[in-house]
Amino acid sequence: MKIIGTGSALPSLRVTNHDLEGFLDTSDEWITERTGIKERRLLSTETLYDLAEEAAKKALQSAGIGPEQLDFIICSNVANRFITPGMNCILQGSIGATCAGLDINVACAGFVNAMMLADSMMQAGRASHILIVCAEEPTKYCNWDERDTSILFGDGAAAVVLGPGNGFKAVQMSMISNKDVLYYERCMEKTPFEKNRVEGQPLVMKGRELFRVAVSQSAKDIKIVLEKAGIQPSDVTYYLMHQANKRIIEGIRAILNEPEEKFPTNIENYGNTSSASIPILLDEMLHANRIHAGDTLLMSAFGAGFVSAACVLQWE
Ligand code: ACO
Repeated sequence: MKIIGTGSALPSLRVTNHDLEGFLDTSDEWITERTGIKERRLLSTETLYDLAEEAAKKALQSAGIGPEQLDFIICSNVANRFITPGMNCILQGSIGATCAGLDINVACAGFVNAMMLADSMMQAGRASHILIVCAEEPTKYCNWDERDTSILFGDGAAAVVLGPGNGFKAVQMSMISNKDVLYYERCMEKTPFEKNRVEGQPLVMKGRELFRVAVSQSAKDIKIVLEKAGIQPSDVTYYLMHQANKRIIEGIRAILNEPEEKFPTNIENYGNTSSASIPILLDEMLHANRIHAGDTLLMSAFGAGFVSAACVLQWE
């Protein structure tokens, strides 16, 4: 399997840290110092489905194939307006594809998990062209009256088209069940029979604990996946990390003792876009001509669950 096309789409509305100062007890200085974020994009006039469609169409165009050539669609999303039908169903119609698909929710680690699924399907001979679309609107599950989570997130979508090849070298997935550190509890419809009804609540986060586990678990995953791929940290051209917090990325970099320039970021412009963050970064780097044939890319993400995943790709 190899990536043969990429695309991304971001909302047009930019919201800077200074904009947030207008209604939250926060400051540009605090947000920049603690997270590295300067601004983020927020859905205002568009919908998440507009972004998903745009990203998917761009990825198909860059792959040079039509939607009818797709064998499968995998969508990664934590939450969106439609509980049913799945995002993959809605997107199949809007891009003009005819194949089947599925949605996955592996929080911020969704992209790497989708890559693992796609590789497994290709190795089993069930598909030769697969579309992965990561589309996320985490700003819609934060409490915007509070400063603790709303400053961290941004909305966005990115897609990749996968085709036959030998670029996918190794993958590591991990899970430690601990739902209390980061969760968003949705309010379901009321039935006349339900006892002990639980009301929903916006995203709850224990930031410090999350930070600590994100650094240590991601470093662990990376060491394991490097070993699986039979390579050293120095063999990696770029570490494409989930963009959750610049200091989390810096903590992982310090453990690996690798140079800063190998850890590209765009969190300053977009905040944390959950599972879309790695493919958005990948798409931007390709457009900037920063990735070349033969480069070794390591992708690593950590998210609510706790779930985490890392993979190694040789760019073909
Ligand atoms: N603006 C100003 N002050 C703030 C803000 C804010 N937005 N938020 C908290 N503070 C205050 C706190 O009230 C506290 O004040 P006090 O000292 O008077 O009590 C002080 O700043 C320090 O707060 P902490 O929460 O201890 O700050 P910390 O250094 O841990 O940084 C942060 C908080 C940025 C959330 C950090 O813990 C973090 O990044 N954690 C990881 C969170 C994350 O990445 N979540 C994304 C989802 S999961 C994923 O994608 C990996």
